[in-house]
Amino acid sequence: MIGLFDRLAAPLLRTLDPETAHGLALNALKLAPLPPARPDDEKLQVHAFGLTFPNPVGLAAGFDKHAEVVDQLFRLGFGFIEAGGVTPLPQAGNPKPRLFRLDADQGIINRLGLNSEGVDAVSARLAQRAGLPGIVGINIGANKDSVDRTADYVACIETLAPHVGFLTINVSSPNTPGLRNLQQAAALDEVLSRSIDARERAAVAGKRKPLLLKIAPDLTLGDLDDVVGVARRHRIDGMIVGNTTISRPKLRETAKAAEQGGLSGRPLFALSTRMLAETFVRVEGAFPLIGAGGVDSGAAAFAKIKAGANLIQLYSGLVYRGIGLVGAIKRDLVDFMRVGKLDSLNEAVGRDAAAVTAEPWPA
Ligand SMILES: Cc1cc2nc3c(=O)[nH]c(=O)nc-3n(C[C@H](O)[C@H](O)[C@H](O)COP(=O)(O)O)c2cc1C
Repeated sequence: MIGLFDRLAAPLLRTLDPETAHGLALNALKLAPLPPARPDDEKLQVHAFGLTFPNPVGLAAGFDKHAEVVDQLFRLGFGFIEAGGVTPLPQAGNPKPRLFRLDADQGIINRLGLNSEGVDAVSARLAQRAGLPGIVGINIGANKDSVDRTADYVACIETLAPHVGFLTINVSSPNTPGLRNLQQAAALDEVLSRSIDARERAAVAGKRKPLLLKIAPDLTLGDLDDVVGVARRHRIDGMIVGNTTISRPKLRETAKAAEQGGLSGRPLFALSTRMLAETFVRVEGAFPLIGAGGVDSGAAAFAKIKAGANLIQLYSGLVYRGIGLVGAIKRDLVDFMRVGKLDSLNEAVGRDAAAVTAEPWPA
């Protein structure tokens, strides 16, 4: 069924304007009679942040911004879904066009600007699915015009924490002016300290929801030292490395490369994997990491794990490889484990991190 969906839908979606195609894909997911995913091989199970993930392949934030199709997305075989980014108040985001496909590079540039239906609409949807299986996290951001952006994270945590498996503090979207400055040590210290207090207040029966921090792959290594230091001091539960990049590695689609926004997909793989390894060696096992950026095959997913990821996330790969990608990655991971005689993926986490950090900086 998934193969059929890919064969019918992918060529059609490819001919459309990317944002229209995305809307159609969401509608197709709402309507398609996809059967439930097959149970995962137990070897793929991952324990992280106090949660048990049936497999390590997650959907990255931005695909289901308003939490409209999370349960349909589990039918594609994901081990977890991150919905959002969501902002406290609804906001339209940037003018269109704001989403560009770089087909020759298998990349995407977006400058959506955290378009959101707002926290009330999204939390109502998530509350409605309470009790259903599947780990759903939520990516939270700040409104563009907010005067106290930290208060925006606090508001999102208080409203959403009861309805989700984890929350991700997104201080790394490149399309909200100034947002990434919250990664600077003093600002981040305040964001994390107030967010952790909010998470405490939102605890139900003493149960606190894991709070993750998602960073940009464009930080300098000096900035990364600070970010990891602050994150460790506040004992956050994990980090996601990372968001889209404002840098432009060598791209074939030179005209589109000039579009402003964050680049994702295959051209982001090398930089994001390097930053993941750099983060891993700084975190020293204090908390687990999620690797995101250019995962479009089992080999790419395994490379992320060996660079330091306990879990991985993908978005752009789905656009270029279709929804069959999730199953293909899981099959490949099981194969890699058999060949490497691994009983759990945990045994491979960070195995190559030191070697990756010794390579020349990715061009
Ligand atoms: C269209 C689009 C929208 C995105 N929206 C968000 C978002 O709202 N919040 C966020 O933290 N990341 C967002 N991202 C970044 C992804 O979650 C992910 O970190 C990044 O795309 C790298 O993964 P990929 O190469 O597999 O796409 C978005 C990415 C794309 C392509």
